[in-house]
Amino acid sequence: MSVEVRPITPTLGAEIYGVDVHNDGHFEEVHKAFVDYSMIAIRDLDLSPEDHLAFAERWGEINVNRFFKPLDGYPRIATVTKEPDQTKAIGEGWHTDHSYDQIPAMCSLLLARETPEVGGDTAFASMNQAYLALSPAMREMLHGLKACHSSRHAFGATKEVSNSEAAKSGRLGNAELATQDAVHPVVITHPLSGRPGLYVNGDFTTHFEGWTKEESQPLLDFLYDHCTKAEFTCRLRWRTGTMAIWDNRATQHKAINDYPGQRRHMHRITIEGCPIS
Ligand code: SIN
Repeated sequence: MSVEVRPITPTLGAEIYGVDVHNDGHFEEVHKAFVDYSMIAIRDLDLSPEDHLAFAERWGEINVNRFFKPLDGYPRIATVTKEPDQTKAIGEGWHTDHSYDQIPAMCSLLLARETPEVGGDTAFASMNQAYLALSPAMREMLHGLKACHSSRHAFGATKEVSNSEAAKSGRLGNAELATQDAVHPVVITHPLSGRPGLYVNGDFTTHFEGWTKEESQPLLDFLYDHCTKAEFTCRLRWRTGTMAIWDNRATQHKAINDYPGQRRHMHRITIEGCPIS
């Protein structure tokens, strides 16, 4: 039996029902939906951490997260948790995972273990739709630019990071490992779909190569605002047992922190990508 793919918007995001993670045919259908919609949400899964890891390995090599607290006994599974007494969620700003790596991650598989009754959605934005909505002259200029990305200010041993609730509560750690810097084109061609897309994000991009930070910031701010216009986004409402898989080369995402006093607990596995250009 085939899986059922229900698009959330015409170009970004699809819910998928009826997936058996052990079925090769289902994997092909799920993978096709991933390429077509850039973010898929597989519903109604009942997976052990071992099942989650085995399914992740079908996508590629697992990238062990350096900074997120791992799940006890499973160093390759990162936890993304907000306790009822905590105020900040991990990933609250629009971003794409691992853009600071020379070879950025392909995708992240986030499995909901415990969700608030209402709230705690994740928003996603299509970097292809954002690119296509720019004027031809702006697109042409951006094609000539590269941008610098870094993990240092986000996860490193800065005052802001070490004083943050996430670091103090142990949700983020290993600040000494935040040494990654990378330069990537501002417009990339997606390695699977061939579609062009913007590749800068507010959490990790620091400036355009060859430009000062002051020169870069106004154009970066314009691009961040542009990328996250409602027209290019979709929103995923979680349920326990939902697994979202998003393509980090085609989307940005943001954890919506609107559930004070409730617990949200997710398991994340990230998969290595390939060089981007
Ligand atoms: C993340 O940014 O990886 C987490 C997103 C979420 O918790 O919704």
